[in-house]
Amino acid sequence: MMKLRKAVFPAAGLGTRFLPATKAQPKEMLPLVDKPIIQYGVEEAINSGCDQIIIITGRGKQAIEDHFDVSYELEKMLEERRKTDLLKIVRSISDMMHVAYVRQKEALGLGHAVLMARELVGNEPFAVLLADDVIDHPVPALKQMVDVFNQKQCSVIAAQVIEGKMISSYGVFDAQPADGFNGRLFEIRNMVEKPKPEEAPSNLAIIGRYILTPTIFDCLSKTTTGAGGELQLTDGMRMLLKQEKMYAYVYEGRRYDTGDKLGFLKATVEFALKRDDLGGAFREYLKGLKLS
Ligand code: G1P
Repeated sequence: MMKLRKAVFPAAGLGTRFLPATKAQPKEMLPLVDKPIIQYGVEEAINSGCDQIIIITGRGKQAIEDHFDVSYELEKMLEERRKTDLLKIVRSISDMMHVAYVRQKEALGLGHAVLMARELVGNEPFAVLLADDVIDHPVPALKQMVDVFNQKQCSVIAAQVIEGKMISSYGVFDAQPADGFNGRLFEIRNMVEKPKPEEAPSNLAIIGRYILTPTIFDCLSKTTTGAGGELQLTDGMRMLLKQEKMYAYVYEGRRYDTGDKLGFLKATVEFALKRDDLGGAFREYLKGLKLS
């Protein structure tokens, strides 16, 4: 039986939507309250059973490596000042997992980024998490998908219903309902990357959580440039579909598109409201704003 152990995080994108904040800082390191966006995804992967993290980086992404590494000076200082709570938080990040980095020299697309992980992943299934998509639920979205994967033993892609014209910002499934999993499972018939709204095969969008079999690497190596002049993961997956069954799974949870400014703000506000140490005071502050 195939078991999921490895999680790949494409993180080489330039983050132009968040300039100037991302001029000298990776977009993955922007904090939601006090935790970098990418750490939410890494924690989700670990809490879903992955113990090997592979991050695809590029120029200017050093801060991500430093974040998941031991910070000797900081730990020493916190120790000396007896800041044990903070020390625990800082240590837990580097203790969390084994992490490997691959450089994507050119930003040629999501499919190309995933292909960079080929040697480190080898011949086993793996997850891909797009850190921009932060999904909040007591059972991590990836964990929900692992349950499907363990039963079906083939690729499982996260899906969400997107109404209206916004569908054309996503990869879109053509899929038919499958048995089990409370009506959340669909067998994929086809998929297309960022179709025009009138050409979208359904309102079921691809969301940034994938569990893929290693056959995807052969497919991606044969995939040509697609939408936006990029090597698209969706196009590679369409090729995979010709060889293997694939499922779309409508996860339970609330998703924030933190790659978008409004989505980032919504996530910040809602995550702050949920915090034990901040929620009360922040709620009071928000109530006091005279919003019309
Ligand atoms: C990527 C994928 C797309 C998917 C989306 C989910 O697009 O290419 O299929 O729907 O992530 O967030 P991007 O948002 O990187 O343009």
